[in-house]
Amino acid sequence: VPPERIRNFSIIAHIDHGKSTIADRLLEMTDTVAQRDMQAQLLDGMDLERERGITIKLNSARMNFTSKKDGETYVLNLIDTPGHVDFSYEVSRSLAACEGALLVVDASQGVEAQTLANVYLALENDLEIVPVLNKIDLPAADCDRVAQEIEDVLGLDASEAVQCSAKAGIGMEDILEDIVRLVPPPRVPVEGEPLRALIFDSYFDTYRGVVVVFRVFDGEVNVGDKIELMNTGAKYDVLELGVMKPNKIPVKTLRPGDVGYCVAGIKAVKDARVGDTITLVKHRAEKALAGYSEAIPMVYCGLFPTDTDRYNDLRDALEKLQLNDASLNYEPEVSSAMGFGFRCGFLGLLHMEVVQERLEREYDLDLITTAPSVVYHVYMANGDMLTVANPAELPDAAGRDRIEEPFVKLELFTPKEYVGSLMELATQRRGEYIDMTFLSQDRTCLRYDIPLGEVVTDFFDQLKSRSKGYASMEYKFNEYRENDLVRLDVMINGEVAEPLATITHRSKAYGIGRGLVDKLKELIPRQQFKIPIQAAIGNKVIASTQLSAMRKDVLAKCYGGDISRKKKLLKKQAAGKKRMKAFGKVEISQEAFMAVLQID
Ligand code: GTP
Repeated sequence: VPPERIRNFSIIAHIDHGKSTIADRLLEMTDTVAQRDMQAQLLDGMDLERERGITIKLNSARMNFTSKKDGETYVLNLIDTPGHVDFSYEVSRSLAACEGALLVVDASQGVEAQTLANVYLALENDLEIVPVLNKIDLPAADCDRVAQEIEDVLGLDASEAVQCSAKAGIGMEDILEDIVRLVPPPRVPVEGEPLRALIFDSYFDTYRGVVVVFRVFDGEVNVGDKIELMNTGAKYDVLELGVMKPNKIPVKTLRPGDVGYCVAGIKAVKDARVGDTITLVKHRAEKALAGYSEAIPMVYCGLFPTDTDRYNDLRDALEKLQLNDASLNYEPEVSSAMGFGFRCGFLGLLHMEVVQERLEREYDLDLITTAPSVVYHVYMANGDMLTVANPAELPDAAGRDRIEEPFVKLELFTPKEYVGSLMELATQRRGEYIDMTFLSQDRTCLRYDIPLGEVVTDFFDQLKSRSKGYASMEYKFNEYRENDLVRLDVMINGEVAEPLATITHRSKAYGIGRGLVDKLKELIPRQQFKIPIQAAIGNKVIASTQLSAMRKDVLAKCYGGDISRKKKLLKKQAAGKKRMKAFGKVEISQEAFMAVLQID
């Protein structure tokens, strides 16, 4: 197909505005997928994604569409993008593979936080943006208001936007015609240019190994070519090339404007990173395509198997997950209280949750998770700078000069009646107010400078509950800033419970310490002896309480039917009071650890 009849586009939208449903309809409309084979939301491959209704892994599909306006047949490559801020680097790379983006806005809702964030990413990548108003079948749909909002907030003309209902199948053909008419074709290739192709997805397939999905910008690639990944320098032989319809259809050659996949004996996804440029060894491009960067983990936590015997299983599971997820980062960690586990780095909270859930569900592991932490920059008196992602590793105050923490720019989109409550939330979380803009008569956007550490606790849940689910948020890393930060330790029975250590602002340490000890008192089962529970900064105890003694309910944590384990525990208890003391610190359940996450 000549480039002038190719259109490469993505669909961008706020969560739940109908991106996947529209994608499904477009695939049906173009007979790419027969209706009876249509598995709802075909593009979201993983189960977990479907359940949560979010798109994590990228996918793409090639459609043929014959325009009724000019009678020509076009190849439309739909490039799927993940919908969440945690994956914004991947969103940006998949947008970079397109010339245009279909912007879906729910006509009963309007412009939301991720609508704006995605539009920014699309504009940064010079894309033509084609707005459409979805869900017009809903009684609450108000196309005029939302079109006005798109114009006012995003600066895009939405007066001629297609008004559609993906659910009812209204307006789908108009969308395809708009894509052909408005999205520019790829530029005309120059003869003899060296190959440059942008990787915008790669995933591990049990049968083929790593499958790399890319867009060709210049030159061409053939089966049998020796390719080089320009940023990593790794070289491979192309074993298979093809296009996704969305099933993989092998081809011999891919040319400028084409979107396709390649299999080249690559072992792990981290060897073929999103954003890297593919070129040919024998005819090498001089410069890689712009925009390559390593995904930097923003949030860390410790993961420990509840059953210490399963350490190796956890390691194997992480290894397997990493084959598919280059941004998952982990290294072994030993904790006096928890034993052997791993400190893992994630792009954000959602990424963390997804990984935890997959470990528990797909690998049948029971995990204890420590409180999530951001990465602090700790400047020592001697001038050294340490990066600390584990609060337990924060050096003592004596050797430190200062601590810096990451700040993000936060945007909250909300109906105006919740503004007061959300401002209160942001202030509690040490947010510094920047400004407020009206999106329409009833909806506003609040902007804050706020420490990431305050956002990664339960900010999102708070936002949703304070706004009855109507507010949305988005944040972007801004800078590191010095602050009066301290390490808050929790001591149970005189021993520091490392997994419960947190780094917090001094002004909040007392409140958090109080909340922690009170909650632990509720959650730790009573023992046969008294147990002091304390919170301390350095040697200074700032909050304390005491758990009185009684016969310990050792079976409380054996909710399963594992009788041999129950017997073992009863035996342990029989071993007597003295021995129990030594066990004092490990009698903490997962719930108690999770309590840390729920402190306001
Ligand atoms: P994420 O994958 O979470 O980003 O969501 P999405 O934008 O892909 O939204 P999705 O297609 O999953 O749709 C979200 C919900 O809206 C689903 O329950 C759909 O059935 C519903 N929906 C989508 N389009 C329409 C529509 O035109 N009308 C109505 N009434 N509901 C729709």
